[in-house]
Amino acid sequence: MDSAPPSTDEGSVLTTHLLEGTSGARNLGGMTTPGQASGTITLGGDTTVNRLGYGAMQLTGKGIWGEPADREEAVRVLRRAVELGVNFIDTADSYGPEVSEDIIAEALHPYDGVTIATKGGLTRHGPDIWQPVGRPEYLRQCVEMSLRRLKVEQIDLYQLHRFDPQVPVEDSLGELKAMQGEGKIKQIGISEVDVEEIERARTVVDIVSVQNLYNLTNRKHDPIVEYCEREGLAFIPWFPLATGSLAGQGGVLDEAAKRHDATPAQLALAWVLHRSPGMLPIPGTSKVTHLEENMAGAQVQLTDEEFQALDALGSQK
Ligand SMILES: NC(=O)c1ccc[n+]([C@@H]2O[C@H](COP(=O)([O-])OP(=O)(O)OC[C@H]3O[C@@H](n4cnc5c(N)ncnc54)[C@H](OP(=O)(O)O)[C@@H]3O)[C@@H](O)[C@H]2O)c1
Repeated sequence: MDSAPPSTDEGSVLTTHLLEGTSGARNLGGMTTPGQASGTITLGGDTTVNRLGYGAMQLTGKGIWGEPADREEAVRVLRRAVELGVNFIDTADSYGPEVSEDIIAEALHPYDGVTIATKGGLTRHGPDIWQPVGRPEYLRQCVEMSLRRLKVEQIDLYQLHRFDPQVPVEDSLGELKAMQGEGKIKQIGISEVDVEEIERARTVVDIVSVQNLYNLTNRKHDPIVEYCEREGLAFIPWFPLATGSLAGQGGVLDEAAKRHDATPAQLALAWVLHRSPGMLPIPGTSKVTHLEENMAGAQVQLTDEEFQALDALGSQK
């Protein structure tokens, strides 16, 4: 995995321009976008993406249900993310359901070098209700419908959203492996798993990524971060901003943010990027202003000492 960030001086200059809206280009005259400044990671040895991605779960209604309050802003967020160098976008068929994938296709199809990662295996029966179903025939239908909504012939990264306790994971992942063999899925990932589950999954099929809840103040999955780094898997932390509580004022990061001349959200993202070269965070937002703020977090360079100080701060919580 290559995560060495390029020169940051140029990047800072361009960020200023980009944040002022003076440029829509992804790479102007060799200058660095915020996405590029986050370094890169290679998924499964053949898909290289910038390490600061975007998570599209917030592009739906309340309770991750139905249409977003402002669909045009949702489209703008996605297009702006790509302008700022995001080339890894995470979604799921269950966000909406269907709404997030539909908006991604509307805003970005044919994607032009942007990797779209989606997920299946959670059913929805109303706002904030999520129920796993891992039966092979259901997952096959999920993949077919995501292909149709995203308007692609192959899904770049398909993640099993949850293991279904009622279905052996060999059956669930076995079906995804079959669809990989049919060319409908390029790479496979898993979500909310422990080391034992990762190892069990890897006996069935090649796994390139693990997506688990992780942020400065929630470190339950530290052993998984280390496992992924050791084994060359991408670790995709969801809730990298603790769903907004690390981003607002009055939180644990306030004082440190002032010292760094950065915002709390930027520090939370800089910390997570520094934590491991295998880290591929996907902060979510429904607003262009928050997106721009978050992307600039890729340019906050922490020394090891600064990282340790934040680490200690987060561990106390
Ligand atoms: N695998 C899984 O089971 C799973 C579960 C949950 C999420 N995910 C994925 O992880 C992604 C990230 O999770 P998330 O979006 O729930 O949580 P998050 O990235 O930790 O935080 C998003 C929340 O923070 C707010 N926010 C973002 N930037 C901000 C800023 N600069 N200032 C103030 N508030 C800010 C957003 O509100 P605004 O919209 O107002 O900006 C939103 O409420 C999701 O989009 C999804 O792709 C995966």
